[in-house]
Amino acid sequence: MPTRLFRLSLRFVLPLALVLGLFAYAVVPLVDNLTVRWSVRDLDTKSQSLANALQEPMREYVPEKAERRINQLFERALRDQRLYAIAFCDPAGAILYKTSTYPQTLGCRLGLDGASGKDAMVNFPQGPLHVSDSRLESEGQNLGKLILVHDMSFIERRSADTRKYGILLFALLALVISLITVFVAHLSWRDWIASVKKVLRSKDEAGGKAPRSTTPPEIRPLEGDLRALLHELNVERQTRDDATHLWTPEKLRTLLHEELSGDEVLVVSNREPYLHTRTRNGIEVQRPASGLITAVEPVMRACSGTWIAHGSGSADKESVDRNDRVAVPPSNPSYTLRRVWLTKEEEQGYYYGFANEGLWPLCHIAHVRPVFRSTDWEQYEAVNQRFADAVVREARTDDPVVLVQDYHFALLPRMVREQLPKATIITFWHIPWPNSESFGICPWREELLDGLLGSTILGFHTPFHCKNFLETVDRYLETRIEHESGTISFGGKLTQVEQYPISIAWPDGDANMPTVAECRSSVRAEHGMSHDHLLAVGVDRLDYTKGIIERFQAVERMLELHPNLIGRFSMIQIAAPTRSSLDEYQNFEARVRALVQRINNRFGNGNYLPIILKAEHHGSDQVTRYYRAAEVCMVTSLHDGMNLVAKEFIASRYDDRGVLVLSQFTGAARELPEALVVNPYHIEQSADALYRAVTMPEIEQCERMRSMRSLVKDFNIYRWAGRMLLDAARVRQRERVVTKIRSHSRKSLRRVV
Ligand code: G6P
Repeated sequence: MPTRLFRLSLRFVLPLALVLGLFAYAVVPLVDNLTVRWSVRDLDTKSQSLANALQEPMREYVPEKAERRINQLFERALRDQRLYAIAFCDPAGAILYKTSTYPQTLGCRLGLDGASGKDAMVNFPQGPLHVSDSRLESEGQNLGKLILVHDMSFIERRSADTRKYGILLFALLALVISLITVFVAHLSWRDWIASVKKVLRSKDEAGGKAPRSTTPPEIRPLEGDLRALLHELNVERQTRDDATHLWTPEKLRTLLHEELSGDEVLVVSNREPYLHTRTRNGIEVQRPASGLITAVEPVMRACSGTWIAHGSGSADKESVDRNDRVAVPPSNPSYTLRRVWLTKEEEQGYYYGFANEGLWPLCHIAHVRPVFRSTDWEQYEAVNQRFADAVVREARTDDPVVLVQDYHFALLPRMVREQLPKATIITFWHIPWPNSESFGICPWREELLDGLLGSTILGFHTPFHCKNFLETVDRYLETRIEHESGTISFGGKLTQVEQYPISIAWPDGDANMPTVAECRSSVRAEHGMSHDHLLAVGVDRLDYTKGIIERFQAVERMLELHPNLIGRFSMIQIAAPTRSSLDEYQNFEARVRALVQRINNRFGNGNYLPIILKAEHHGSDQVTRYYRAAEVCMVTSLHDGMNLVAKEFIASRYDDRGVLVLSQFTGAARELPEALVVNPYHIEQSADALYRAVTMPEIEQCERMRSMRSLVKDFNIYRWAGRMLLDAARVRQRERVVTKIRSHSRKSLRRVV
């Protein structure tokens, strides 16, 4: 409040003071002039009457040449403070009598034409003097002329006083008028705010039907916008709360066009959705093992647009047009993939170094130390800028919807915002956000936070990650945070921080896929297993965060505890190689392989292997085949943003069978309590859960699976994207209304003033 008053004062007092000051500046000389003229006239009259008074005695003394009496007469007259000197000249122009003060240089020059009654202002070294003369006659004879000299310095003093008091008066007036103006403006601002509040409240109270007549006239131009905003919030809240509402690609498309008037969606991620690789059979297209790709690709198919990503496939360059673009999916193109090429050094510093040796272990509690190097940071910054520039180049409008994906691009939202201030930037952080202390060890923590706050929306999988992020910002940046609504105001811009649990596209009628029965028998046959052999499946990248070692230890422990399962149970682990040029990943793979060998040596015999490790890339159909073939799917991540393997397994089991063993440290565990939730660090607990899973009665499997399927079907990937787009539309709308309110209030104030 005091700041606003101060601003108001500056806005109104200063111009007023300026105008009134100028006014005073112009008026004072005028008053000055008038004062002088009035004083001169005053002196004229005074001189005239004094001359008249002296005429009589002078008529007597001059003919008598009574010098002494004349001098006495002059001395008496000089008692008047303002009369400075007197002289008497004969008709020939010679001074006959004069007081000692009479300026010698003045002589008898006035009235040289012989006329009397002349007066003049003359400047002498002693100051300005007023000189007047009057003719002395006796019985028609010209005796000479009487010259009276008045001191005019009092006029100057009078002028200076007038000027001083005039300026003081004007300053006082300016102050009083300004204060009145500010006061009136302040009152009307309060009235205006009260009116806005009244409209909002009446809307709330009347359930959205505030009677028009109660709206104050000054608010009417805004009323429509406020109503629309509230309506939108209501509709959005209802949509959000309505869990039974099925989100489909069509619904997402409609939402995009209606709410964001956006026919342009740009996705940015490091990993590309399709890689072209050179093989012995020619160029083949691969889908990378990445939860991010699994989730975002269906959204892009639904919305079209352009996906900007690192072109990392060995035949990528041969598959693009001259603008580095290629239409995908190859079988049925529905959006554009724009590839960005990175040099070996850029990839090393930005991707392997800063993103995967720094941020990845920083954000996951997996007991691997993050490594931060300045050279990696420089590459990270430079590559973020290159991708931001690519976004700006690909944008056809100045307000595209930009979906920024993951920890590879923490700086990019701010970089895009600087070039496209009207863009809607939705950033999703696919991995966990650590607590503020852990994050604080990153040497570039402020820069990363600042970069992310260029986003309109910043999404995490869980409320816990949102909370960690808000606390981190609170600790390291000067921002205004509203914890309840999850908004951060930074540099005058809002970022909404919200949880959007990611999901998958619900498979509708995958008629080409083999059935559960077919998958069960073909997988078992392929591995030389009997038809009742018990199978668990694990599907992960070969990453130290996935708890693969702990999972195998649980298998080992279960076989120790339940030796009757030896020869009857196997775990098939699909492990896609990942980031394999990093030491940490090479060491991890070596440890995994050694453990598998040890367990297989311990419990395997002949053809039987308790753990079958398939450390190679598998396409999604192949993975689904294993999901359908298995009794159990094991997800034992030590820390995971969401984990979509859990949801994919559920989606693949249309037969309502199969059990999910799920780590409590995944985002998915919050949504899927019907899974057997375990602490992967507790090997016995996981072993028990695995045993319970392979022996679970079908009826229980069915109940659990049905409940989980219904949730994953409703809370699908279109809902994830839809909620973010709705929130983005809401933030944009809010910003528009705030801008409108500001400009309207400015106009109202101007009108008041
Ligand atoms: C995680 C990250 C993704 C990444 C994926 C695969 O899921 O959140 O951004 O794409 O791992 O990792 P990669 O380094 O092979 O892309």
